[in-house]
Amino acid sequence: AKGDMPTIDPLHMMAKEMKFLTGNIRKLLGSGHPSLDRAAKYYTQAEGKHVRPLIVLLMSRATSQCPKAPQRQQATLHASAAIDTSISPLSVLSDFNPSATTTEAADSAASSETDILPSQRRLAEIAELIHTASLLHDDVIDHSVSRRGSPSANLEFGNKMAVLAGDFLLGRASVALARLRHAEVVELLATVIANLVEGEFMQLKNTERDEKNPRWSEETLAYYLQKTYLKTASLISKSCRAAALLGGADAATVEAAYSYGKNLGLAFQLVDDMLDYTRSEQELGKPAGADLELGLATAPLLFAWKTMPELGALVGRKFENEGDVARARDLVMQSQGIEQTRALAEDYVAQAIEAIRPFPDSDAKDGLIEMAVKTLKRQK
Ligand code: FPP
Ligand code: MG
Ligand code: MG
Repeated sequence: AKGDMPTIDPLHMMAKEMKFLTGNIRKLLGSGHPSLDRAAKYYTQAEGKHVRPLIVLLMSRATSQCPKAPQRQQATLHASAAIDTSISPLSVLSDFNPSATTTEAADSAASSETDILPSQRRLAEIAELIHTASLLHDDVIDHSVSRRGSPSANLEFGNKMAVLAGDFLLGRASVALARLRHAEVVELLATVIANLVEGEFMQLKNTERDEKNPRWSEETLAYYLQKTYLKTASLISKSCRAAALLGGADAATVEAAYSYGKNLGLAFQLVDDMLDYTRSEQELGKPAGADLELGLATAPLLFAWKTMPELGALVGRKFENEGDVARARDLVMQSQGIEQTRALAEDYVAQAIEAIRPFPDSDAKDGLIEMAVKTLKRQK
C-alpha cells in the first residue's frame, strides 16, 4: 500500500487465532486407525490458504460490534465454554472423550479477545473441514495428481482411501457441528454439504441440456453462476451467516454477512477459473489448464462463446476430439473472455464490500474488505 494508509494484513490480524486452527482440526480428525488417520490429516499438512476459516473469524469479530437480535439468551448459551466441543484423537473406536482439551486450547488462543466466541472458532474449523473433504473427493473426480504443491491424496493413498478420508472428515465435521447446539447453524452447514454435491453435479452436466451443438444464451451464464454459487459460494456465504448467528447478531447483520460471503465466493471462483487459463502448474501448486481437459466450460470460455459461436460444437462434445482443447484455448485467448471474467469478479467484490458497509468501523471490517480486494489480486 502506497501513501499513508497502514497496511492491512488479515492473516496477520488473526495470527493468534490461526495458530491454533490446524492443530484443532487435526485433533478433530484423530482416528485410532493409523492409515485412516494419515489419509484424513494429509491435506492439513501442506499449508493451505485457510481462506474460509479466516473469513469466518474476521466476520465473527466484525459482527461482534453490530446490533444484536432481541433474544440474547441463545448467544450467551453458545458463548459458554461449558459445551463440550472436544473430540478425542485417541480412542480406537473413534468415540468422543468428554474430558479432552480441544476447547480449552481453542479458548486460550484468544482468552483476551472476547469478541470471538468458542463456537465461532469451532465454526471456522468446521468450514475448513468441509472444504478439505470436498477437495479429497474433487481430486478423485478430477483425476488430479497434485494439490497444494504435493501429490494429491488420491495419488498418495489411492481413490478408495481418498474417498473414505473425505467421508470421515464430513462425519467429524458433522459431530463438531451438532455440538454447537444451534439448530439453524446445523441446518446451514448441512445444506452446504448438499450444495457442494449439487454444484459438482451441475458441473458434470456442463450445459443445462446435453445438446450436440448448444447455442449460447443468457441462461448459459446463469447456469454457470448457479453452479458456482453451489460449488464455492455456498460454503463461504453460509459460514458467514452462521458466524453472525452464533454471535447473536440481528437479522440485518446476518443478511449482510451472508451477502458479503456470497459475493466474495462468486468472485473467488471466477478468479479461480481465470487463473486456470493464465497461470502455470508451478505457479498454482495444482494442474493448470485443467478445466478444458476435464471438459469444463468456465467463465472465460462462456464469454468467448458469446461472440464465437463455433465454440458451441466443442462445448457440446466437451473438448473430446483431438485438438479441441488447444483450439478452445486459442479462441478464449483471442477473445475478451479473460477480461470479462475479471470484470465480473470485480463487480462481485464491489458488492461484497458494499454489503458490510453498515458495519461499525473496525480492524476486522477492514480485514474483510482487504480479503475481498485480495481475491482479485491473488496469483494462486
Ligand atoms: C474444487 O473445484 C471443488 C469444489 C469446490 C467442490 C467439489 C465438490 C464435490 C467433489 C462434491 C462432494 C462434496 C463433499 C462435501 C464431500 P475445482 O476442481 O474447480 O478446483 P481445483 O482446481 O482446486 O481442483
Ligand atoms: Mg479439481
Ligand atoms: Mg473439480
